[in-house]
Amino acid sequence: MVMKINRAAALWVAAFLLPAMATSAHADGADVFGDNCLVCHAPEAGLQKTGPSLFGIVGRKSGSIDGFPYSDAMAKANLVWTKPMLNNYLTSPQGVVAGTKMAFPGLKNAKERSQLIDYLATLK
Ligand code: HEC
Repeated sequence: MVMKINRAAALWVAAFLLPAMATSAHADGADVFGDNCLVCHAPEAGLQKTGPSLFGIVGRKSGSIDGFPYSDAMAKANLVWTKPMLNNYLTSPQGVVAGTKMAFPGLKNAKERSQLIDYLATLK
């Protein structure tokens, strides 16, 4: 009888608790970054990959990393990456900077965007 209850409890944990934990971990901004951005962007200063380093991105002027080969569109965009501007850009990169060479369709989940942007603000 005791064994049976323990097995039921173990199954309950596996069926409900583990997926719930996975969901909340996935929703964390650093994980959103890891899943969507890290392939092209480093969070560290001075490390350029396919995309420019995102260190200090919140408050930074667009197209301002010296020596990074920006598209003409980004080089001339003349934006400041405030949180609301990042929110717009990350919803639809082409919608904000038409012609950007950032090959990313946008992050459609508003909650993930907001968690991601909170994470970006810690990169300083
Ligand atoms: C496939 C590669 C790729 C992915 C994925 C990608 N980016 Fe980019 N990103 C780029 C490139 C390339 C640029 C430069 C764009 C240009 O010059 O038009 C860029 C530019 C940017 C800029 C402007 C930087 C500046 O210095 O003005 C921001 C902000 C940015 N990306 C954020 C993100 C975030 C956050 C994610 C994840 C949600 C992401 N990017 C995903 C390649 C990528």
